[in-house]
Amino acid sequence: MVRINVVTLFPDSFTAALGSSIVGRAAAAGLVRFRIVQLRDYTHDKHHTVDDAPYGGGAGMVLKPEPFFEAVEDLKAKPPIVVLSARGQLFTHELAVRYSLGSELTLLCGHYKDIDNRVVDGLGAEEVSIGDFVLTGGEPAALCVVDAVVRLLPGALGDHESASSDSHYEGLLAPPSYTRPPSYRGLGVPDVLLSGDHEKIAAWRAAEAERLTRERRPDIWSKHEE
Ligand SMILES: C[S@@+](CC[C@H](N)C(=O)[O-])C[C@H]1O[C@@H](n2cnc3c(N)ncnc32)[C@H](O)[C@@H]1O
Repeated sequence: MVRINVVTLFPDSFTAALGSSIVGRAAAAGLVRFRIVQLRDYTHDKHHTVDDAPYGGGAGMVLKPEPFFEAVEDLKAKPPIVVLSARGQLFTHELAVRYSLGSELTLLCGHYKDIDNRVVDGLGAEEVSIGDFVLTGGEPAALCVVDAVVRLLPGALGDHESASSDSHYEGLLAPPSYTRPPSYRGLGVPDVLLSGDHEKIAAWRAAEAERLTRERRPDIWSKHEE
């Protein structure tokens, strides 16, 4: 069982997503346990203040360090502690595998202009980005991380959903998929997939995976070729 903690100003963002589909099933089966914590619960003033103006001036508000430290201490969270951040290392399949092999994962969601950097330094946190763009808050990023991690937990996917033929699992993009009908609006299905010849189908899929990776992701292709 993996315990996943999330510290957020918007716990409601997680309710539907963590109760649905594969992630919801994994939680119901006891493969993962979620603790979603409201950052404001760790404030001590009557306005439940979580942010303040940035030192040095500038636009936007910065999330204060104290509530994050107190939330993490209250959760007695073990590493890894992850701060979702546009300046973090890119979230990849390798990182999802590493997190899925641990017993606990704690995700800290930012909002507004930034999080006080002492949260990263003082809690020994890893900063993780889900892509080269800026979100309003860390919540959608945390949901991406949770989803990618949970689907890798043994028993989370049924056989028919196996992760091993998905993109990135073997260091390549996945080949394209088709289902019935064999012809739709003048668009056909590659003949080989209708042939019933499993060896030829496997060879076609392998070749397509290589072609797509080479064409679309030369960065991944060059790693694969090393
Ligand atoms: C408006 S953003 C802050 C962006 C920050 N000022 C910067 O330029 O890097 C507010 C919060 O959204 C989250 N966030 C934004 N973009 C993200 C990304 N690409 N990956 C992960 N989290 C992100 C972070 O938690 C961040 O603290």
